[in-house]
Amino acid sequence: MEGKFLMEGNFFYVTTPIYYVNDVPHIGHAYTTVAADILARFNRLMGNAVFFLTGTDEHGQKVFKAASDSGLSPKAHTDKLCENFINLWTKLDITNDAFIRTTHPDHIKIVQELLQRLYDKGEIVKRRYEGWYCTHDERFWTDKDVKDGNCPDCGRAVEKIEEENYFFLMSKYHDKLVRHIKDNPGYIMPESRRNEVLGFLRSNTLGDLCISRPAQRLSWGVPMPFDNNYVTYVWFDALINYYSATRYPVSGAGGKMALWPASVHIVGKDILTTHAVFWSAMLMALDIPLPKRIFAHGWWITRGQKMSKSLGNAVDPFEIIERYGADALRYFLFREVTFGLDGDFSGEALVGRINTDLANDLGNLASRSFAMLNKYFNGKIPTPDEVEIELKGLAEGILFKIDAHLDGLAYNKALDEIWTLVTYLNKYIDMNKPWVLAKNNETGGRLRTVIYSLLEGLRFVSLYLYPFMPKSMAMLYTRITKGDISKVNLPYVSQWGLLEKDMQIQEMEQMFPRIETKAKPPNPPAMRQKPQAAGTSPKEECPMNVVDIIDIADFAKVRLKTAKIISAEAVKGSNKLIRLTVDSGEERQVVAGIGKHYTPEELIGKTVVIVANLKPAKLMGVESQGMVLAASDADGLTLITVDREIPPGALVK
Ligand code: MSP
Repeated sequence: MEGKFLMEGNFFYVTTPIYYVNDVPHIGHAYTTVAADILARFNRLMGNAVFFLTGTDEHGQKVFKAASDSGLSPKAHTDKLCENFINLWTKLDITNDAFIRTTHPDHIKIVQELLQRLYDKGEIVKRRYEGWYCTHDERFWTDKDVKDGNCPDCGRAVEKIEEENYFFLMSKYHDKLVRHIKDNPGYIMPESRRNEVLGFLRSNTLGDLCISRPAQRLSWGVPMPFDNNYVTYVWFDALINYYSATRYPVSGAGGKMALWPASVHIVGKDILTTHAVFWSAMLMALDIPLPKRIFAHGWWITRGQKMSKSLGNAVDPFEIIERYGADALRYFLFREVTFGLDGDFSGEALVGRINTDLANDLGNLASRSFAMLNKYFNGKIPTPDEVEIELKGLAEGILFKIDAHLDGLAYNKALDEIWTLVTYLNKYIDMNKPWVLAKNNETGGRLRTVIYSLLEGLRFVSLYLYPFMPKSMAMLYTRITKGDISKVNLPYVSQWGLLEKDMQIQEMEQMFPRIETKAKPPNPPAMRQKPQAAGTSPKEECPMNVVDIIDIADFAKVRLKTAKIISAEAVKGSNKLIRLTVDSGEERQVVAGIGKHYTPEELIGKTVVIVANLKPAKLMGVESQGMVLAASDADGLTLITVDREIPPGALVK
């Protein structure tokens, strides 16, 4: 496994597709743009010069028609619509260096320059052409493609059109393209997509590409520089954006640096052919170097179909951000599904990730660490007595792995690596039990090392997670170091022990509050309680020896289950009650009177035993859906736990 960024360390240029301005942005669009943003942010941290480009695709008959339908000029219409994307990128904390619009005069000029160059070289010729035209998709189909007179893509009726058009002689590049893909295994990724493109090129001879439309049919486009009666096919115009943005000063870039070729074009699998085949052949014909990589990711699916506005199954990213925050959405998109594969978008899965990974694993780690720093050292970072070698090795070593995984756009693998550190740190708390060290008055030595190491570990976590969750990780980093994370040089700051000692830091509120899901009501009591006379107890009713011995059937009525404590907090106004959220196969809230024997921090992560079918009851106004079992003696109380790791919800018999 070899990382590119650490080795090359100089320039990185990443692009997203330019989105059709007519679409309302949905999760699918957000996906590609966040993917590019993560790479851009990571590269900047690594000290590389970065150019990150996104934008909108604004020509074509559909846009023209929508504009005239709404009584606007096409330009006024696109000005309005492209705001939707710009707003979403702001809300998602996207750090694109430039935003290109294909209606910008400088882009148009470059498209025309390139067309002229190809025409002069004899790479573009005029031909009589006959084909089935789909007005909706603005493209031609052959007899073979058309299905019962309908477009194979959108299903609408196609019409036979015969006309003269300009053709780019793409067929010439068939063999050269195959060779390039074969010689450069990283050119098209993932490998399955590369094989698909090679398979397509093996079984089809590449045809020539019709790249013009008569201006009287399609007026809203780039005029052919050598023939004003025609405009350019939208894809020809659109693909050139990646190059044109590097040639003229699109805000934030352009002209200043030698930006081309792109390091990676990130696209959805729906537009891989246009990039891998059309764009590659266009660049070959123009003698312009090819991009280093084209990565085609999968689709977000809802209700079994690709999410899209026209199918009416699109998930609105604005709403999700409003509800859960941009960081949670960014994290979910890249943790849940391998980049390259399709993924089913579900609100339940999103909330599950927020609660499990962000609130439990990461949020609790941070809040416990800060709470202990406060409690034992008044918020002042202690000086450790020793270096935790294993933790240091783990924390420092992850950088190389993230680097290698992100080079291959394996986002979830990078997150897996970061999570080994989060998990380690949580275990580190449980193993070292700082509260025991504190109780034994070990505020010197070991306790200092443990608390320092936790905060130092969190510093690493914030650095590594920053490209994925910029807002919360910038906050965490600033809280720990008082520094600005966006200005750090990652290879330098990812050395263990840089956390400043003696610095006073403030406690941190829970970064990712748990999302309250409707807890499934605990299983209904399996037995009906026998009414008792007031003031009497079974003990009083029966002689001891009779009540102490119960039938196995009676015991079977009590459902005991293992439960993992996910979060814990003192019930306000009580020094005894602790409100626990537990996972007992289902999530539930249990109130336990153990506050004099346990602190909330030390409870998190423990697997305990609960009575799962107890009738819910309110304790100091807080509902308890079960009871935690504990044993007590003269020394106090101790929770009943399990002897080895066992999944939550296991029956105790
Ligand atoms: N304008 C062209 C691209 C020209 S690039 C030179 C276009 N635009 S689009 O608005 O349709 O956006 C397509 C891109 O949006 C996809 O390639 C993909 O990156 C993203 N997605 C749109 N829907 C998607 C899903 N349902 N799931 C994941 N990504 C999807 O095509």
